[in-house]
Amino acid sequence: MDGVTDACFRSVIAQQGKPDVSFTEFTHVHDVCYGTEIHLETLLYSERERPIVAQLYGKDPNLFYLAAQAVCELGFDGLDINMGCPSKSVASSGSGAGLIRTPELARTIMQAAKRGIEDWACGQTLEQAGFKPARVAVFERLNRQRGETGPTPRRRLPLSVKTRLGYEAVTVEGWVEELLMEQPAVISLHGRTLRQMYRGMADWSAIGRAASLVKGTGTLLVGNGDIQSLGDIGVRVRETRVDGVLVGRGVLGAPWFFRSKEQARMRARGMDGTDVGRDPGEVSLNERFAVLADHAQQFQALVGEQQFYRMRKHLGWYCKGFPHAASLRACMVRVSSVEELHVLLEDFQNRPEVTDLPQAESADEPSVLVSRCS
Ligand SMILES: Cc1cc2nc3c(=O)[nH]c(=O)nc-3n(C[C@H](O)[C@H](O)[C@H](O)COP(=O)(O)O)c2cc1C
Repeated sequence: MDGVTDACFRSVIAQQGKPDVSFTEFTHVHDVCYGTEIHLETLLYSERERPIVAQLYGKDPNLFYLAAQAVCELGFDGLDINMGCPSKSVASSGSGAGLIRTPELARTIMQAAKRGIEDWACGQTLEQAGFKPARVAVFERLNRQRGETGPTPRRRLPLSVKTRLGYEAVTVEGWVEELLMEQPAVISLHGRTLRQMYRGMADWSAIGRAASLVKGTGTLLVGNGDIQSLGDIGVRVRETRVDGVLVGRGVLGAPWFFRSKEQARMRARGMDGTDVGRDPGEVSLNERFAVLADHAQQFQALVGEQQFYRMRKHLGWYCKGFPHAASLRACMVRVSSVEELHVLLEDFQNRPEVTDLPQAESADEPSVLVSRCS
């Protein structure tokens, strides 16, 4: 998710309970090939996140051909093309969900990306592909930063597509048929049209129809939309026969979202030393604050104190589902460093009205702390 699932957050998620696969924020193909180094921040990752898929967007097949090779060289485990972003700046220019209206171009882009992957796997160097030596040096630096010292092993990355049910209306059957002609490894389907943006509820019955369509084609169908818990995933898989489920907003402020069923069982038996019988999606306030502080610490170490304000949205997302969360959230938008965060959390935990907090979800209560953080 753009502006959300950066390398730092994904790394915290991987620590807390790894999903089966992670995706980077989307990156424009032009930025991969010619953008400044700051634009490549979205392609940073750590080894612990594997398997990790790079997501690209754009509408120029030539740039997809080149950028696909950069993704291979950077050691990713897959390449995903975004054909689902509804934002005006992306879709109205013909990229993202805009591609649903131009299926021929969408297919040409997939062919170009596949050709890039194939040429790279067959030994073509980035210079032979057309990259300037200075650009190749940037990719080498990114690899070294990750601790990679040798050449990236040549292999054929799977190509996948993330998209929506349609542009104005649900046209999922025809659209999926078009995509299948290029035999992507995976089609991830967000159960809304572009027109819906994020309004209403995801249409999982339409996702189910698409899942039936892909059966036996060799392409996997992954459903997406409004998943709030591990329990939701089981229900959707059973109902729609999708091959998997993507989770987006459900992880905001909850990097422990993917703690495995095994952990849930261990917890129920009291084998991991934590509270017996609690769902892995539920964490104690102490644990919530410890993860939040660790996330903030890692973020500051990665980007520096000057950029710490970018962490504030995450800090706010962590503040939900416990008494007086709203008042703490209000304070989080002013925190400028890890040190300030520690002071705020200590202050909060020492307040008489928030000691002995129950763990169950409760409505955010009126601000008792707002005056203390201004
Ligand atoms: C802030 C934000 C940024 C997003 N950025 C991306 C993105 O870069 N690539 C992508 O495929 N989807 C992106 N999405 C869409 C989500 O991946 C997902 O399809 C959508 O939120 C529905 O799933 P959910 O209900 O589990 O969140 C973004 C969504 C949000 C809210």
